[in-house]
Amino acid sequence: MLIVDKIPQAIQEMNALRHPRRIVGLVPTMGALHEGHLSLVRAARLNCDVVAASVFVNPAQFGAAEDFDHYPRNLEADAALLEKEGVALLFTADPGEMYPEGYATFVGQEEMASRLCGGSRPKHFRGVLTVVLKLFNIFRPNVAYFGQKDAQQVVMIKRMVSDLNLAVDVRTMPIIREPDGLAMSSRNVYLSSQDRRDAARLYRALCAGREALAAGEKDPGRLVETMRQVLGGGEIDYVEAVDPRTLLTPERVRDRILLTLAVRYPGARLIDNMCLNSDGTETLC
Ligand code: PAF
Repeated sequence: MLIVDKIPQAIQEMNALRHPRRIVGLVPTMGALHEGHLSLVRAARLNCDVVAASVFVNPAQFGAAEDFDHYPRNLEADAALLEKEGVALLFTADPGEMYPEGYATFVGQEEMASRLCGGSRPKHFRGVLTVVLKLFNIFRPNVAYFGQKDAQQVVMIKRMVSDLNLAVDVRTMPIIREPDGLAMSSRNVYLSSQDRRDAARLYRALCAGREALAAGEKDPGRLVETMRQVLGGGEIDYVEAVDPRTLLTPERVRDRILLTLAVRYPGARLIDNMCLNSDGTETLC
């Protein structure tokens, strides 16, 4: 596996790997890799001829009071995992390589960026879309893989791809969960053992919403109420049932619905979601 940390070198190496009949897959990550990330790499390996990955903790998607400095970093272990999974090229850069002095251009999205996670993380999606567009331009992948865990991110990246006519097929892969249902996340390591046990209620709340939907409840407000009852106390950032295309709450559940929530613990803010058909079966954003 080639490891490169400069953009011109990444472009050059990708040009050498690219071939008209080769499908190039990209897995963008911020590192601290777990089974969730590896499931993206495995899907890419299955469906693409060449797989590239990036490990870049993107400062542009962290707010001033957020955990950029403390975000888990373990490049050596990440590189070993990616190499074992058959990744051809790993790109890892310093913030200064991606955002050199005088950097001025950011990708914004009007409505969606302020909804759900955007309510408490106002510049987060501007940072995500900007870095993802830069990575798409550097790698020019045919296919890019993202996890359902960050549902709002996937929805907004798909919207960017469609709005800006980008030639990338964005694929969403299912959430990988711990045995008690907690969605895998690089930030789970920051939970105290008590909060880690408590955090299983996020998944239980989503399951309760799913069961209510399957039993015929089509009122998004009631689905939210059901989830809130299971979540109980704690610092809830949001619990919502939204249309996965618009991230707005529909009057009734007609086709797909995204049950989504965020809860703050002292060590980490956790998000989780389920994207469901109207009969309660699971689907992806
Ligand atoms: O999901 C992530 O890890 C990040 O938001 C991404 C897509 C790699 C952009 O920094």
